Amino acid sequence: MLILALETSCDDTCVGFLNFKETDKFENPKLELLSNIVSSQVEVHKEYGGIVPNLASREHLKNLRPVYEKARKEAGFDPEEVFEKLDLIAVTRGPGLIPSLLIGASFAKTLAWRFDIDLLGINHLEGHLYSNFITPLKDGNVPSFPALCLIASGGHTQLVLFSDHQEYEVLGETQDDAAGEAFDKVARLLDLGFPGGPEIEREAKQGNPDGFDLPRPMYDSGDLNFSFSGLKTAVARRLQGEESKKSLAQDMAASFQEAVVDVLTKKLKRASKQFSVQSIFVSGGVSANRRLRERLKKEFSFAESPELFLPSLSMSTDNAAMIGTASYFKSKQDPQTDFGLHNLKVDPSLTLKQEGSKQARG
Ligand code: KG4
Ligand code: ZN
Repeated sequence: MLILALETSCDDTCVGFLNFKETDKFENPKLELLSNIVSSQVEVHKEYGGIVPNLASREHLKNLRPVYEKARKEAGFDPEEVFEKLDLIAVTRGPGLIPSLLIGASFAKTLAWRFDIDLLGINHLEGHLYSNFITPLKDGNVPSFPALCLIASGGHTQLVLFSDHQEYEVLGETQDDAAGEAFDKVARLLDLGFPGGPEIEREAKQGNPDGFDLPRPMYDSGDLNFSFSGLKTAVARRLQGEESKKSLAQDMAASFQEAVVDVLTKKLKRASKQFSVQSIFVSGGVSANRRLRERLKKEFSFAESPELFLPSLSMSTDNAAMIGTASYFKSKQDPQTDFGLHNLKVDPSLTLKQEGSKQARG
């Protein structure tokens, strides 16, 4: 099954071609990742210290065609031949910035209409869940269900029980800022660059994680929810009136990073005790954080631990391959799937609760 995958929900223009070779069962395909191009808009947004929605959609409009051509060439297809071979076009339909989502959806719809190809809208969060499948599927392995997944990105922080394909249950989520958002805001407070995650990580390498005594919000809350805005405020308070942030930046970055990693690790461990799972998935931009990966590897290294899956660094952040992988399983799993053009509905505030068969608790 040959899939063209498109992801333009935020500030990265992503296009990829994926070929799923089915074996005896659709659940065990072998994945050939033919191309997976990401065109970053960081240079455009960094002077504003955050993503400017209208600039993002303008960049997508400019970049989508060349990024598509690059992905097509890298996958080894001729301009016309590709449409004879394609089985499905998958595109992110939400959540995200509405102007950005509309550019990807219009591009996908136009191709699907012109060349009469099946079309499927994909929830970006489902994409992040499936990012953990990409590397195993390339080797012909499939992670075992049930799985527990931490999604920690710029827009979301959620713990999800992923019981089977299309079966998601949101166990807990942030009550305010997302973990990635906290990295971005604290980086701004420290006069570091954008996006903040990689900048904080770089700065933290030289710093002392015990340098500042920062709170671990909701660490002992007893549930699986998160909160990060108080942590950001604690950093802001501590920096108030400081002449030179530069001299504090390394220790503050290390202390802040450690606080976030502590909370994420603790909640994931708590959930894994509460639910008996085979696999642990971690995804979203924050899962690229090396300190977090190190800690999780240590926590889940015991013989009786569920198997820990960490996406490669390039699959942690937004990419097209994760959307294509989610679309393969969605198209195969659900016999009611409607691949028509009319069925693609963009929704900027789409939640994971609207997908799959299980509802959120509480
Ligand atoms: O998943 P993603 O690419 O886009 C969204 O769907 O939001 O995540 C982007 C977020 C940003 O907030 C960025 O600062 C954070 O992920 N991030 C990191 C790292 N790399 C990216 N956070 C901590 N450590 C990193 N190495
Ligand atoms: Zn994302």
